[in-house]
Amino acid sequence: MKQYFISTFGCQMNVYDSGRLAGLLAAKGWSPAGGNDKADFIFLNTCSIREKAAQKVISRLKGLKPLKKRNPDLIIGVGGCLAEQEGREFLGKVPFLSLITGPGRLAEIPEILETLDPRGPAVILTGQTPDSESAPEPCPAGGSAASALSSFITVMEGCDNFCAYCVVPYLRGREKSRPLKDILSEAESLISGGCREITLLGQNVNSYAPDGLDSKKGPAFVRLLKELDSYKELWRLRFTTSHPKDFPPELIGLFGDLRTLAPHLHLPLQSGSDRILKAMGRRYDRAGYLKTVTALRRAEPDLALSTDIIVGFPGEDERDLEMTLEMLAQVRFDSIYSFMYSDRPQTKAALMPGKVAETEKARRLGQVQNLQKAVTLEINESYAGRTVEVLVAGPGREKGQMSGRTGSLKTVNFPGSPDLCGRLVPVRIESGWTASLLGQLVS
Ligand code: 5AD
Ligand code: SF4
Repeated sequence: MKQYFISTFGCQMNVYDSGRLAGLLAAKGWSPAGGNDKADFIFLNTCSIREKAAQKVISRLKGLKPLKKRNPDLIIGVGGCLAEQEGREFLGKVPFLSLITGPGRLAEIPEILETLDPRGPAVILTGQTPDSESAPEPCPAGGSAASALSSFITVMEGCDNFCAYCVVPYLRGREKSRPLKDILSEAESLISGGCREITLLGQNVNSYAPDGLDSKKGPAFVRLLKELDSYKELWRLRFTTSHPKDFPPELIGLFGDLRTLAPHLHLPLQSGSDRILKAMGRRYDRAGYLKTVTALRRAEPDLALSTDIIVGFPGEDERDLEMTLEMLAQVRFDSIYSFMYSDRPQTKAALMPGKVAETEKARRLGQVQNLQKAVTLEINESYAGRTVEVLVAGPGREKGQMSGRTGSLKTVNFPGSPDLCGRLVPVRIESGWTASLLGQLVS
């Protein structure tokens, strides 16, 4: 039996896509290899969001050269955003690649492998297939995610927003939503396989708009969440990512209202400065963002928030950074993902004046992260004494411990036995740290 090994870089959508590919390969008789050295087909599902992410992929690929040299019949392929961005150019950096496929062409891989000559020229598939303008295909039944307690489902892909710094719209194309019935049937098959927590994925899930769904009945995404909420065996529902400019009151109202909707939201702020938000093309300002946060917390007082922050966007000065720090202090996010701005090909920001030096970006990043670390720690410490519901996912940090997540997405470690795995259990928190909480099972 032929064996494959997939490495995934970047976002959750790549994780989902890698699972889909694994399912498609399994359907063609492939089995998973334990590592690169056992595989007949090595696939790297890549990311290009920042230059560092791209560099990491290239250096990982270069490290595969000895394997290919030893075994010329080995097939090494790349997919995902960097493959889409580079296309044929990829061969200039990594000449021993056999396959280069953009995210829109993933489903074609198993068939291509049947005829691909690992010693011959590379097969390059980028852009969308002629008939895939509609929607990404569902995960095949029996895909690798089918028995997981927590699973992802892609509901839409692509982005129409063209934020000035972001390469995604050029690589993942325009927004395409999957039909409601396909998503529901994928959810049903996951749930019947034991899945209890579903995270809906898309670059901008709030603008979910499948063909043929009447928009007069309210936002399609609200309808999708309500439909999923009706599955009795589903315990938790999450979604990511949302754009702050598209948060209709109907969606805000679902927090605290839907049984399954977990009290956590990732809402990328990017910057606290109105001037920079405008230059980024984000189409909201501080006041608008704060208004949405206030309304969300009114709907769900326990809502945990996370966000993305970019420091050193072209033209950002000390005052802009102050405004970002001020927003972090005011909103008090549970956690943040913070990045140094990085030029990406084709984007508007790459051509903007006022580039910030790398050392200065690093200094600003340090300031942002230090402030956030303190806020995260304060929030996590405040959990002490509270009893939370934990979905137990596996062994904990230390021997004899189990670990899981709260609805608010905090990792909790507690003494417990493996038979708790897959259960929702009450845990009384004793202490909070920057990255996790520690507690005792309530019997
Ligand atoms: N430079 C730095 N960070 C970026 N992001 C997207 N593009 C860039 C870039 N060019 C960040 C944004 C986005 C997250 C996924 O990655 O914060 O929300
Ligand atoms: Fe990129 Fe902006 Fe689209 Fe998010 S909303 S994927 S940051 S262009």
